Amino acid sequence: MAVEAQRQTRGSESELGLEFGRRMQPTPQEARIVIQGGQALHGTVTVGGSKNATLALMAGVVLASTGVTGLKRVPRISDIANMATILRGLGVDAVFSEDQKNIRFDATRLTSFEPSDQLVTRMRGSLQLLGPILARQGRVRLAPPGGCNIGARAYDLHLKGLMALGATIDESGGYIFAEAPAEGLRGAQVYLDKPSVGATMNLLMAASLAKGTTIIENAAQEPDVEDLAQLIIAMGGNVVGHGTGMITVEGVEALHGVDFTVSPDRIEGGTFAMAAAITGGDLFLEGANPAQMRPILMKLAEMGVVIEEAPNGVRVMHPGHSLKATDVTAMPHPGFPTDLQQPIATLLSLAEGTAMVTDTVYEGRFRYLNELIKMGAKARWEGRTAVITGVGSLSGADVEASDLRAGAAMVLAGLVAQGTTRVFSVHHIDRGYECFTQKLASVGANIWREDEFGKRVEAV
Ligand code: EPZ
Repeated sequence: MAVEAQRQTRGSESELGLEFGRRMQPTPQEARIVIQGGQALHGTVTVGGSKNATLALMAGVVLASTGVTGLKRVPRISDIANMATILRGLGVDAVFSEDQKNIRFDATRLTSFEPSDQLVTRMRGSLQLLGPILARQGRVRLAPPGGCNIGARAYDLHLKGLMALGATIDESGGYIFAEAPAEGLRGAQVYLDKPSVGATMNLLMAASLAKGTTIIENAAQEPDVEDLAQLIIAMGGNVVGHGTGMITVEGVEALHGVDFTVSPDRIEGGTFAMAAAITGGDLFLEGANPAQMRPILMKLAEMGVVIEEAPNGVRVMHPGHSLKATDVTAMPHPGFPTDLQQPIATLLSLAEGTAMVTDTVYEGRFRYLNELIKMGAKARWEGRTAVITGVGSLSGADVEASDLRAGAAMVLAGLVAQGTTRVFSVHHIDRGYECFTQKLASVGANIWREDEFGKRVEAV
């Protein structure tokens, strides 16, 4: 067949093939988690390392100008992989262990002070890079970070604190550009208008290499902040008061690499505790730290959930009768964590009575209630407060994960709803929960993932 004719045939074949192929494929929709509700969960779930502590610790790795830092019990989630790529772009050598639960970093030779825009804009946690890069390099240029759409998520307190340490800040180019004085950052007394977790972390890291003493007042007290302070101390830093509202940092000349184990994720632990409660089950949360989960466990106990603390975890049992509604106010630690405001609202939608849920941390964290209402929940909200009246049951539906923790709340609802629930935008969930569907399936949930063509896939 002449070349020209062949090309035409090939052309039409390929079009035909493409057309035929397309007809063979179902219409692509979107990857989703599918749940057949009604199974009570029983057994043991291992709680992984804290996502938010790990992101801060990975930023803290940049502070070590000598030696290698090894982080243990790192969660296998997309935000961590993203942060490791950002660090490699700065010249940090980052190597994951086979099971991806440990990472070794060598930050002795930094080659850049500009983290990748494309990666930074995917997650709020990249904001924590400001302090350590500024402290090590004398300057940092960061694209405004991304993260869950749950409110304004300002970062004025980060910048105000760094300026107090002597940095000059320029945001004129649409980036955050911070520069330290020629003689380096100097210690200062900083008062945070709000106990911002991220701002406390950035200041802690910047102050650890500044000249002199820094006092952070109205500091965040989250366990994630304590983990970061412990890392800095282990690296040779000088920090006291972490876990309280006033942290004092004595700057040192240099910090060195160290091995460090990440605390268990109290938010993941709390999510599984609520999965046990909402399905009428009995779960042992292996590795959970009851002390760090106190605000969560106390609130669940108020609802009637049975809690048993053990040396290596926490057992959570449904009491066998309906749970009682109780008011919830999400506040900075040691208040009830805002990251479990959405999951506990799902639990309250089936409790006996009416509950008020107030989020004092974020002004825009109730949008998920629209999805819960699709499943039959009785809820309404205004500003920072929602009113939820328990109903007898929820019905399966197609729902959206509007952000990471809203996604977890939708999965919890699906676990107990009558019929099938499909949770879309699962990439939000993958940012913060390791093997979420596998862990739930391992304790009896009828849950799986489907790709965009509706084909059942094994979650990685
Ligand atoms: C961290 O965000 C967590 N993220 C969030 O978890 C968590 O909800 C939050 O702390 C509170 O516990 C990471 O650690 C990556 P903030 P962060 O600074 O540091 C306002 C999840 O689901 N604010 O304490 O950003 C801000 O707008 C995520 O895992 C300012 O006004 O929290 C927000 O309303 C979601 N100015 C509130 O304070 C600032 O300079 C809390 O922010 C900083 C914050």
